[in-house]
Amino acid sequence: MTAGLAPRDADREHARTVPERVVRRASELIGRTPLLELTRTGTGTRLLLKLEQFNPTGSAKVRMAREMVLHAERAGLLRPGGHIVEPTSGNTGTGLALIALERGYTFTAVVDGHAARDKLRAMRALGARLVFVDNGGSGGPSTVARRAKAAEIAAATGAYWPDQHNNPGNGAGYRGLAGELREDLGDIDCLIGAVGTGGSLCGTTEELRRHGSRVRTIGVEPTGSIIFGGPGRPYWQTGAGSPAGFDVGSNVDYRHIDEGCKVTDADAFATARVVARRTGLLVGGTAGAAIHVALRRLLRLRPGSTAVVLVCDAGEKYLDSVYDDDWLLERGLLDHLAHQRTKRLLTAYDDSVRLAAAERTGT
Ligand SMILES: Cc1ncc(COP(=O)(O)O)c(C=O)c1O
Repeated sequence: MTAGLAPRDADREHARTVPERVVRRASELIGRTPLLELTRTGTGTRLLLKLEQFNPTGSAKVRMAREMVLHAERAGLLRPGGHIVEPTSGNTGTGLALIALERGYTFTAVVDGHAARDKLRAMRALGARLVFVDNGGSGGPSTVARRAKAAEIAAATGAYWPDQHNNPGNGAGYRGLAGELREDLGDIDCLIGAVGTGGSLCGTTEELRRHGSRVRTIGVEPTGSIIFGGPGRPYWQTGAGSPAGFDVGSNVDYRHIDEGCKVTDADAFATARVVARRTGLLVGGTAGAAIHVALRRLLRLRPGSTAVVLVCDAGEKYLDSVYDDDWLLERGLLDHLAHQRTKRLLTAYDDSVRLAAAERTGT
């Protein structure tokens, strides 16, 4: 209480001196996402999750959606009342839908049946027009066909096509994320993220390194994606990866990816589900893939290291896929052994922390 003031007066005084934290637009809520420690080892190495689902639209991608639109406005590529078209698996599209409605543009998302249904619903709910392309019954993403359709719409209507795979605003949209990591953690030793356009992992890394960081980065893609080579085949992780036949765009900047890893759908989804049961937070399938890699990498890191996984989005978008036993069973992806392996790894880390503590205290 302020000295000499009655309680009511003190409340009023407090209200006057504490700066209000009220925003006027949802996009002002982008960023400042929290970090959660998932596990640590007896050697003092920590695995932290950067929970990007706490952004408006529930994903990291709104960061780059805003940046690409601002770039376009500055470059005179978007005029008031303009039209934006972009192929998307959903998260970029939901981000663009939000930014478009705030800034008075119309937005057309070119999508396919591979997208999570709730992402399609969210884009529609935010006023986006959806144009579907066929994935030829492959079950995989139709990244090539989606791009062709977006190019066609842009040419026919004069709509602005940001082209997230090659737009420099994509990577630049993650400078803020890098700044948050620096502010919250200082330097970090290892950054792990699922790679689709490459914007989030490479953009964050570029900014960290610009500030002198020696962070080691690991890019993760679904088995069957061709970003890090190997044969292409369909996969069910949505948002990350590129299918066979796709020309990987310039935002996958291999200078900023020290190592590329592939993770099967079964391992990615099992890891996401185990993490959900451990933390109470549902993480998306691509986050599951990145965590799968990170968990296996921890013991190889120097003792006392800090590793961060970029969690692109939350599992609430995948309740009828990643978190649905029947959906997994139908596709042969419900893998109890994969669940067990991840659980055992986490238990082993918990044990190693207890043992190290017992050794320190001599008990
Ligand atoms: C769920 C999910 N995970 C990972 C990614 C990959 O992010 P980036 O395109 O920045 O590489 C995306 C991209 O859309 C995504 O939606």
